[in-house]
Amino acid sequence: MLVDNKHLTTIWYEEETDKVKIIDQRLIPFELKIIELNSVDEVCFAIKEMQVRGAPLIGVTAAYGMYIAAKKSSELHFLKNASDKINATRPTAVNLSWALNKIMTNIVDINKDQLPSKILELANQIRQDDINNCKSIGKYGYELIKKVYKKNKKTVNILTHCNAGWLATVDWGTALAPVFTAHKNNIPVHVWVDETRPRNQGFSLTSWELLNENIPNSLIVDNVGGHLMQNKKIDICITGTDRTASNGDVCNKIGTYLKALAAYDNKIPFYVSAPISSIDFNIQNGVRDIPIEERDSEEVSHINGLDENNELKKIKIVPEGSTCANYAFDVTPAKFITKLITEKGIIDANYESINNLK
Ligand code: MRU
Repeated sequence: MLVDNKHLTTIWYEEETDKVKIIDQRLIPFELKIIELNSVDEVCFAIKEMQVRGAPLIGVTAAYGMYIAAKKSSELHFLKNASDKINATRPTAVNLSWALNKIMTNIVDINKDQLPSKILELANQIRQDDINNCKSIGKYGYELIKKVYKKNKKTVNILTHCNAGWLATVDWGTALAPVFTAHKNNIPVHVWVDETRPRNQGFSLTSWELLNENIPNSLIVDNVGGHLMQNKKIDICITGTDRTASNGDVCNKIGTYLKALAAYDNKIPFYVSAPISSIDFNIQNGVRDIPIEERDSEEVSHINGLDENNELKKIKIVPEGSTCANYAFDVTPAKFITKLITEKGIIDANYESINNLK
């Protein structure tokens, strides 16, 4: 998608330099910094510290991480170690293990000297598939937005949580792909952007994406959504997912569940854009079995922003000695989800429909 009117993606392989490049998302919206990933340790740091984040992008980064590993050594035990190390960086998004498994299972019969080029080919394919899948989710989701517009004949108000736009993928995004597609097709849309404490991916990333695409949006703190729904200011909610269980339960950024409850109570459709790479067919009950990441308490006790001299500062916002709990995700039970938007079409959030995607 666009940044200052130029097309950019979140991760790419540069053939001339044989380097993998990413945007350091920790600095957005204040600075656009492109960095190189040169070692498995740098890949692990990038995922853990959220230079890259968002379930699909984590998966693609992991795949390129395996290429970076293979350039150092093509010994199978070394690659297996690298894969385990990368897999341990974040526990909730299933795309991470999905991408690593895809690489590991496709290299079993490959000659050692061909391993780096084979892994690069696979990583490039995973990246390209992600772009295609997000585009396809965009087309299916666009039809839903168009339907609301045709019925109401006024701007469609969409609520989204966290960042499930192009920064969470390679390009287009999942939850925001339908919004970008609707905007490109001249459907008037306005997005309510949830702040998404503690890391504020809504304020810092989603709003930046929407501004760059000239899509009208308003930033709201996390507790506003319910009030807006009661007052008919939201037509439709769309979020992403980090792991979708085979019963249709969806695990996404903390706070998603509360928005789904409010939407259910107010009879507002609640859609989840779910690429098939986010489905964990082995988990039967998402509420019970999806592992929930707990992150550093400093993300809760401190906040980043620009000071009066436009310098990036981290400030403390809690009393000395406070104990902060930092649960990064929650699970929305399937009964609160209107439909899942996948790259293969719009489906019910239930076992039968999800199993048909296998
Ligand atoms: O902790 P993050 O920023 O990686 O969490 C991102 C989200 O929760 C997204 O909504 C999710 O990954 C879906 S992305 C298309």
